[in-house]
Amino acid sequence: MAEFNTIDDFDIENKTVLVRIDVNSPVDPGSGIILDDTRLKLHARTIKELSNKGAKVVILAHQSRPGKKDFTTLSQHAEALSEILNLRVKYSDSLFSSSAKEAIRNLKPHEILLLENVRFFSEESLSRTPLEQSKTLLVRHLSPLIDYFVNDAFAAAHRSQASLVGFTVNTPSAAGRVMEEELTVIQNALDNVEHPCVFLLGGMKPDDSIDVMENVLSNGTADSVLTTGIVGNIVLWAAGVDIGQVNRDFIASRGYEGMVEKAKDLIDRFGDKVKYPLDGACEIDGERVDIDVGELPNEAIFDIGVKTINYYAKEIRDAKYIFANGPAGVFEDPKFAMGTEDLINAMAKSNGFSLIGGGHIAAATAGLGLGDQMSHLSSGGGACISMLAGKELAAVEALKNSKKI
Ligand code: 3PG
Repeated sequence: MAEFNTIDDFDIENKTVLVRIDVNSPVDPGSGIILDDTRLKLHARTIKELSNKGAKVVILAHQSRPGKKDFTTLSQHAEALSEILNLRVKYSDSLFSSSAKEAIRNLKPHEILLLENVRFFSEESLSRTPLEQSKTLLVRHLSPLIDYFVNDAFAAAHRSQASLVGFTVNTPSAAGRVMEEELTVIQNALDNVEHPCVFLLGGMKPDDSIDVMENVLSNGTADSVLTTGIVGNIVLWAAGVDIGQVNRDFIASRGYEGMVEKAKDLIDRFGDKVKYPLDGACEIDGERVDIDVGELPNEAIFDIGVKTINYYAKEIRDAKYIFANGPAGVFEDPKFAMGTEDLINAMAKSNGFSLIGGGHIAAATAGLGLGDQMSHLSSGGGACISMLAGKELAAVEALKNSKKI
């Protein structure tokens, strides 16, 4: 018997189905326009199937986190989804106000309604058990209006937030198609890891990456970790390299200063299995300049330098398994896209198993037209990498427990 339900287990015709998707997407900081619609296209498959089967489809999703520049409403996502699905996606600019509830009650079979960014609801940021989350206002207000809950948000499945685990306690729940496929493919990759196995860790969420580093080095999954981006800077700082006050301030301003001690501990325990950049790219007089670590000026580091690219590309070429979770730098700026693009290219050329996970690096891979050169392009960054690190995903555990009820 499968560990959790799928859409096939429920008769959803004429039923109200709440589906949690993850369409958290890169957004242009200037215009606020969505830069990549990969995740929207991915979830369209589940939404279309629910609608085709005659469900009244209510969608919950998030964009970014409170305090970040791209923390926006989902009105643009509703328009983009309408275009992709070629179906009207209604939009409610609130989550459980009387008007949102009215909009849900008024839905007819096949109709689709997207609710506001669920992280506008402050309780959503709290990580708690499914039982605790089932008592939140969000879950208490929406549960009486729905017949089924479908979790398709693989990319957020490592979070134990209300919209991801709360509904599974009292509402019959199932995994959506994206969730099902991701879990199957990644589990299969995990069951067949070959060595050398390399983790390429970058992106803007060093807390997740440091956690993963510890797990995959401790349990022997990874033979080495190649660090880039902000996590690379944290590891450099931990290794005693002067990365400049401006970079230390940036790390501190994001609340990641505490990661430096953790990184030090990992370097002590795992030595040169923890790789860090040899050089960084800064902007001087409007130009990209690559500078060796040890000689870095007090300038923001926007990318790894060419020496690091060559060093990491060789590690990637020699590996049988390569997992990557985030860009190497500010790839949205063409001057600083080289690290991200060259490492993606190295992965695409590799004969080993290549798995890319994470919204931004997946977008960069798709942008280079190299998606089909990878063994698997996962929609999840933190979720994918947590799974690879052998951790349980809170939302998947919630689905499994819900099946037992
Ligand atoms: C992601 O992009 O990795 C997911 O949407 C989860 O986002 P989060 O790290 O802000 O929870």
